[in-house]
Amino acid sequence: MRIREWSPAAATAAELGAWLRSYNAGQAVDLPLDPPWQIERLKDYLTVTMPGETRLTWLAESDDQPGEILGYGRLLVMEGLGVVELNVAPAGRRRHVGEALVSVIAERALAEGLTSLGVEAIGGTPAADFYTALGFRHAYTETRSILDLSTVDWEHVAEMAEGVSHGYRIEYYPGDLPDELLPAYAEAKQVRRLDPNGDLDLRPSSYDPDRLRASLRVLQGRGLYPYIVVAVHERTEKVAALTELVVPALHPTRADQYDTTVVPEHNGYGLPRAIKARMLIELRTAEPQLRDVQTWHGSDRETLQQVNKELGFLPDREWREYEVDARDLAARLSSTKD
Ligand SMILES: CC(C)(COP(=O)(O)OP(=O)(O)OC[C@H]1O[C@@H](n2cnc3c(N)ncnc32)[C@H](O)[C@@H]1OP(=O)(O)O)[C@@H](O)C(=O)NCCC(=O)NCCS
Repeated sequence: MRIREWSPAAATAAELGAWLRSYNAGQAVDLPLDPPWQIERLKDYLTVTMPGETRLTWLAESDDQPGEILGYGRLLVMEGLGVVELNVAPAGRRRHVGEALVSVIAERALAEGLTSLGVEAIGGTPAADFYTALGFRHAYTETRSILDLSTVDWEHVAEMAEGVSHGYRIEYYPGDLPDELLPAYAEAKQVRRLDPNGDLDLRPSSYDPDRLRASLRVLQGRGLYPYIVVAVHERTEKVAALTELVVPALHPTRADQYDTTVVPEHNGYGLPRAIKARMLIELRTAEPQLRDVQTWHGSDRETLQQVNKELGFLPDREWREYEVDARDLAARLSSTKD
């Protein structure tokens, strides 16, 4: 096995195809019910980054079968935060491929001046044992829930979407947000930053209009088509609640529900219920190929969980976040090499 740094931007079609086969082989074992990724927009997905974000990737390749990718490791660096991503194909597992990839990531993390690293591991897969064996500490757990759209009671969802309190109006934005809404939208998103929910914030969000605009462009550039629904408080014209979802070109039958935020002074008016229901209704015509929607939430977000339950989301798996001191990790891994 050999490990080399890889630039997806310079990748050939053959390399991208091999990467995808390796990735999907791992997913087929760990998440057999998830839709496999398609090659469509894969290069964009792997290449396009937020301003100020760096993604470094390494491939582990087989010595016996040239061109076969046993696994990849990635280090995402943004605002001093280091996030690790790893996938070893079933054929490469339990041969210390994962450990070797983490070892090069840890060395680079130190060179980049990072002090700690975070990672997400999917519950019910070998990843929890792997990260624990490498000295990572379990920091936070989220639950992934999935809504199978074939089970949705559309009449009830339509009623939910109409059930918006007096003084608020719902607006739907496919693809982008108008410039005039950006400041109010960014202000509403700020609320999540102030919410001490223990999440490691592995996916830095955008809290000012310029950054928000940039992150919407990046989503589109990566083949993640965004949909946004907001509740506007009519007296102040402020954004009282918002919900964001993307439909990835990589798996267009499954949408990813991102952030849903309610500004605290607008709690208790049924806004998350109305905006999430409206989102589903719009998707039905905008993305008729969609089969399901996945979303992640911490156990602290009770109101959202109730809304998800009413819409028909069912809990699927734990998504566990781990963290480790970068120096300790590098030291531990270099001593196991000796
Ligand atoms: C977790 C993962 C990276 C492990 O890769 P790997 O190459 O098989 O792991 P290694 O061989 O380097 O294992 C190192 C140590 O981790 C532990 N470990 C790894 N797999 C394990 C398993 N299935 N059960 C128990 N312990 C395990 C062991 O202590 C192992 O050392 P040992 O074999 O000497 O006992 C791999 O299973 C994987 O890619 N899983 C999917 C990850 C994923 O979901 N990625 C997407 C989101 S980031």
